[in-house]
Amino acid sequence: MRRLALWLASALSCCAFAASAQEAEEITDPQLERGRAVFIAASCEGCHTAPDDGVFLAGGRAITSPFGTFYSPNITPDRETGLGDWSEEDFARALREGRSPAGEPYYPAFPYTSYTGMSDEDVAALWAYLQSVEAVEAPNREHELKFPFGFRLLLEPWRWMNFKEGRFTPDPALNEQQARGAYLVEVLGHCSECHSPRNRLGALDPDRRLAGTASGPDGRRVSNITPHADGIGDWSEGDITYFLETGFTPEFDYVGGAMVEVVELSTSQMAPEDREAIAAYLKTLPPLPSD
Ligand code: HEC
Ligand code: HEC
Repeated sequence: MRRLALWLASALSCCAFAASAQEAEEITDPQLERGRAVFIAASCEGCHTAPDDGVFLAGGRAITSPFGTFYSPNITPDRETGLGDWSEEDFARALREGRSPAGEPYYPAFPYTSYTGMSDEDVAALWAYLQSVEAVEAPNREHELKFPFGFRLLLEPWRWMNFKEGRFTPDPALNEQQARGAYLVEVLGHCSECHSPRNRLGALDPDRRLAGTASGPDGRRVSNITPHADGIGDWSEGDITYFLETGFTPEFDYVGGAMVEVVELSTSQMAPEDREAIAAYLKTLPPLPSD
């Protein structure tokens, strides 16, 4: 019964996405095409579109955290309420430095901690793509954060301790396919942001990357995706690729929780070579036991 409900839910959401897929077919400019591929791999849509009848990229989605509720901003090219008067430099700074055009630090609920590694070409293509979407007037909603987290200045010491800005350089021991996978997992797909344990200050534990956590988004368990027996050690690369495309595990369970959206909006829509690259890279990770 549960599986049936999930099937229905996934079938329904597939229909809802048909519109954006159709829009994509009309894209012929290679720069926009690349930008859309980055947008998909980075899963920008889910966080920046309110659920149900939310307008594409007009923000307003509530993102709950132990620090309170964040409301995602409007990232359509609307002049008054979106990114209409931003320059490409403003955009690059937001993604890679985690700062607004006025220089204020962003909360890491916006995963710039991963996006900081994006290549110049990908940032430029993503910017071109975002400027091509429909501008929608929708004012941003204030975050509702617990005291004292509402003070952005508190982010400065946090950033100083936990944020390392800089382009991603893959481990030179990886082959070309694995290196592409590394970029997709560590930068665009920001898989670590959900799949790694965090300390009390919300910082990722660098020694336990991708080893899963008991307290992920919504307080739910997130799987260990390293090649350990506690993780996906017994999945073949083909199993991983199939899962990223369809949401089905080798036990034929349908994916749940926050990963549903990742599969629907991101991995299922990637080029097949990108899914294969992710699988190849995950297989190179050090196998780590779960907590
Ligand atoms: C996990 C959710 C999440 C994802 C994924 C995400 N964002 Fe955001 N984004 C946010 C939140 C929350 C904020 C507000 C941060 C703040 O107020 O400090 C934000 C802020 C922004 C801003 C600043 C807007 C402003 O008005 O200052 C831009 C630009 C942006 N995101 C673009 C993107 C792009 C492009 C992607 C994909 C590459 C993306 N975001 C992916 C949650 C997300
Ligand atoms: C927004 C949070 C989030 C992000 C981002 C995310 N995941 Fe997940 N992922 C989850 C959760 C939660 C589960 C557990 C799903 C469940 O309970 O069925 C999961 C499950 C999985 C599984 C299945 C593991 C198993 O043992 O069943 C794989 C494989 C996986 N994720 C890979 C990835 C990859 C690769 C990325 C980056 C491209 C990624 N995830 C990004 C939250 C996330």
